[in-house]
Amino acid sequence: MDLAGRVAVVTGAGRGIGRAIEDGTVLGSASLVAHDMDTRMDLSPWLASVLVAPEHRRRGVGTALIHRVVDEARTLGFRTLYLFTPDKEALYTKLGWQFLERTEYLAQTVVIMSLAIAD
Ligand SMILES: CC(C)(COP(=O)(O)OP(=O)(O)OC[C@H]1O[C@@H](n2cnc3c(N)ncnc32)[C@H](O)[C@@H]1OP(=O)(O)O)[C@@H](O)C(=O)NCCC(=O)NCCS
Repeated sequence: MDLAGRVAVVTGAGRGIGRAIEDGTVLGSASLVAHDMDTRMDLSPWLASVLVAPEHRRRGVGTALIHRVVDEARTLGFRTLYLFTPDKEALYTKLGWQFLERTEYLAQTVVIMSLAIAD
C-alpha cells in the first residue's frame, strides 16, 4: 500500500485507536492520526490525544498507550511518527522520542518530536 493508502487507513481508524480498559473502566486513550498540526501538514502520521484519567496516572498506563500507537504505526509501515507537546517533552524523551523543533501553536509554545519506528 502506498503512503496515501496508509494515511487513509490511519484517518479511517480515527481517534481512540489505543484504549486502556480495566474492569470496564476506560483508563485512558491515545490516537494515531494522519495530521495533528495544520501548520505542519508535511509531517505524518502523529501520536495524538494521549490522555489518562487523573486517578489512574503514574502506573504506566500512558506509556502502554504510547507503545500501542507506536506498534500500530509500525504495523502500517510508517518509518517515523510525530507528536507535539506543550509540557511532556521529558516523558517522551525517556521513551526515545527526539526533539525536532520548538514552535508557537494555538497560542502556546510547543515542542515537535519524532520517533524512528522502522524495524
Ligand atoms: C501525560 C500522561 C498521559 C501520562 O500518563 P501516565 O499514565 O501517568 O503515564 P506513565 O504512568 O506511563 O508515566 C508517568 C510517570 O509515572 C512513572 N511511573 C510509571 N509507572 C509507575 C509506577 N508503577 N509507579 C510509580 N511511577 C510510575 C513514569 O516513570 C513517569 O514518570 P515521570 O513523570 O518522572 O516521567 C498523563 O499525565 C495525562 O493524561 N496528562 C494530561 C494530558 C497530557 O498532558 N497529555 C499529553 C499531551 S502531549
